[in-house]
Amino acid sequence: MTKRLKMTVAALAVMTVGAQAADVEVLHWWTSGGEAAALNVLKQDLEGQGIGWQDMPVAGGGGEQAMTVLRARVTAGNAPTAVQMLGFDITDWAKQGALADLNSVAESEGWDAVVPDALKAFSKYDGKWVAAPVNVHSTNWVWANKAVLDANGISVPQTWDDFVAALAKLKEAGVTPIAHGGQPWQDATVFDAIAMSTGGSEFYKKAFIDLDPETLGSPTMVEAFKRMDTIRANVDDNFSGRDWNLATAMVINGEAGFQMMGDWAKGEFLNAGKKPGDDFLCFRFPGTQEQVTFNADQFAMFDQGGAVSDEQAALAKAILSPSFQSAFNVVKGSVPARTDVSDEAFDACGKQGMKDLAAAASSGNLFGSMAHGHAAPASVKNAMYDVITAHFNGEYDAETAAAELQSAVELAQ
Ligand code: BGC
Repeated sequence: MTKRLKMTVAALAVMTVGAQAADVEVLHWWTSGGEAAALNVLKQDLEGQGIGWQDMPVAGGGGEQAMTVLRARVTAGNAPTAVQMLGFDITDWAKQGALADLNSVAESEGWDAVVPDALKAFSKYDGKWVAAPVNVHSTNWVWANKAVLDANGISVPQTWDDFVAALAKLKEAGVTPIAHGGQPWQDATVFDAIAMSTGGSEFYKKAFIDLDPETLGSPTMVEAFKRMDTIRANVDDNFSGRDWNLATAMVINGEAGFQMMGDWAKGEFLNAGKKPGDDFLCFRFPGTQEQVTFNADQFAMFDQGGAVSDEQAALAKAILSPSFQSAFNVVKGSVPARTDVSDEAFDACGKQGMKDLAAAASSGNLFGSMAHGHAAPASVKNAMYDVITAHFNGEYDAETAAAELQSAVELAQ
């Protein structure tokens, strides 16, 4: 090695050590193919700014396992730099004083003017920005295999009855009508749409957000559980425990007709090279065309002692930059967390998602998703999960399930 080359190698080594010191460690649950593709957009954005990425993935859709790992890390005095988080979990950590104050970044970047109130309700605590929203997802979507629908003479169902008729046609043809993964968060995701469709906006709000006991135990809730029985009768025998992305794969490869899932499912279709309108269809769950039940992924920065670190500030700034919001959400299946991002780069489902979100917000039909931690705190959410899953697996009939839901929610508060 020449002396000059040696010096370059030494200089590079110093630089590498320097870069490692400026790494961000990010805890998240984006482990499916589509999610990883979206995550890469963020990693590359940061790497472009000289900030290294220490990946801390915790598999498990909906993030329950990730939150368990987070609690263990914080208890051990070793909180990650940044953590993917949903709704009330952010508020819970903020209440404990664990999150860094992002107000300096928020002010210089003008977040207040561009982030909608529905997200700010979780991004801010006590007047302080404590998380940077990366997207808005929504749970009341259905994903369909277009060829399977065409082959069976099925057009996009507009009502619950249309949907039930479509399921019957698929069953008759020997196709699994609904691809589903029997995990509590997935059962609850389906229930978000079923409850909204059965009872409408007022019912959804009273039950899941206001936690009104009468509504939780009402005949409408019984009806919603009866509709869950119909869903249960239209999944395959191996649904139990299946990961959500494997259920999406069943629709992608034509084994199943529909999946009821949030728009992260679109990331899987895109990652498999499928095109909306040609290969797959996206539509709001029948009877929820006016409504949006949303969840937003946000990155909360854990207080590392003192002011927000440069790397945390850079990560927060990158997450909310308009170009990143477009590039990331096009891949992820979600829509931007800022109201001023053009829909130009988005496909038909993304454009519809953005339009639906704006319309639902202005007509008073935008609600936090019960299944994804945006309607009630985790203790209540988990109590609901237990009842919904027990009913889905045949432990309760619909009447018992509504009564159990009422009492479980009461106990969990
Ligand atoms: C998150 C999505 C994620 C999905 C499945 C949801 O709670 O908001 O970003 O893709 O879980 O893992």
